[in-house]
Amino acid sequence: MKFEDIRRVSVLGAGIMGHGIAQSFLMGGYPVSLFDVDRSVLDRAAALIEQNLKLFAQFDLIDGAAVNACLNRLTTTPDLKRCVAESRFITEAAPEDLALKRRLFSEVETYCPEDAILASNTSSLTMADMGSAVRNRAGLVVTHWFNPPHIVPAVEVVRSKWTSEQTMDTTYRLLTKLGKLPVRVDRELPGFIVNRIQMALIREVLSLYDQGVAGAEDIDRAVKGSLGFRLASIGPLQTVDMGGVGLWLKVYEHLTPLIESSTEPPAALLRLAGQGHQGIKTGKGFYDYTAENAHGSPNDVVRRRDRELLNRLRNLYWKAETEE
Ligand SMILES: NC(=O)c1ccc[n+]([C@@H]2O[C@H](COP(=O)([O-])OP(=O)(O)OC[C@H]3O[C@@H](n4cnc5c(N)ncnc54)[C@H](O)[C@@H]3O)[C@@H](O)[C@H]2O)c1
Repeated sequence: MKFEDIRRVSVLGAGIMGHGIAQSFLMGGYPVSLFDVDRSVLDRAAALIEQNLKLFAQFDLIDGAAVNACLNRLTTTPDLKRCVAESRFITEAAPEDLALKRRLFSEVETYCPEDAILASNTSSLTMADMGSAVRNRAGLVVTHWFNPPHIVPAVEVVRSKWTSEQTMDTTYRLLTKLGKLPVRVDRELPGFIVNRIQMALIREVLSLYDQGVAGAEDIDRAVKGSLGFRLASIGPLQTVDMGGVGLWLKVYEHLTPLIESSTEPPAALLRLAGQGHQGIKTGKGFYDYTAENAHGSPNDVVRRRDRELLNRLRNLYWKAETEE
């Protein structure tokens, strides 16, 4: 499938990820068909996309007129056949369930153009497992977006053992056209790049927390104000070069025997999950998210997060991408 042949995009599953992915394609100028098995999810997704487009306009990331133009390119439907019939790039953002995704790909293939690219937003499954029943396996690819997908720039583009070079190239160019920051992952392995790194970080964070070395606020402040502050502009390998390779080698040798390496689930997660606390979803996690408390209600927290990230997007990535 050539990049130029993609005229319409379909997104399957309109939940947390699907509606944001759809918004990114709309902002990139593509007509988007958005499918979900639940009609009420589709209505909510359309309302959220409108709200989020307006926020992008408020931050000067798109102009005001683009809001309606994007909305006019959006079709929502609970009819899978209708959704994919004319799309040459189709991505699923359905629940993380291997059997469901396998069935979905097989069904989609009976309705869509035979050369369409079929992408998955899986966090932890492999195409090798999801796609073995698909006929056009050269057109299978994982595109792993990050929440909130309409804001976070990077998308991992993961090559499966079947993915053709043309599928990789077309997908890469498509994401670049949306103003995204595609990352090529040339070997499919669980967690791809970013989730593996994130797991290494969170294992140490939870170990420090469980040992009582510092509380949640201080650990978060330490990471946000140091690594986090730096990492948005300077990658970890650039950081090694800037600090000095020899110094990093010494610190690596001193510290790696002392940091956490257990594969047991950390006590803090087990305790919170056991008490039914799911974070902002239930109002309590490491922090309290009731409206009267300093962190605000779950909605306030998401809105504040999105505004902070949009500021960063505007300053760090968006202009640079669109000016090129
Ligand atoms: N939430 C995240 O932070 C995140 C980040 C990266 C990747 N992912 C991955 O994205 C995918 C979607 O996750 P989510 O968090 O958006 O889930 P979600 O539960 O918010 O949304 C999934 C949607 O899929 C719909 N659905 C159910 N059956 C379907 C079917 N047969 N076909 C199409 N849609 C169907 C559901 O009605 C729901 O609206 C998962 O594979 C997940 O691992 C999630």
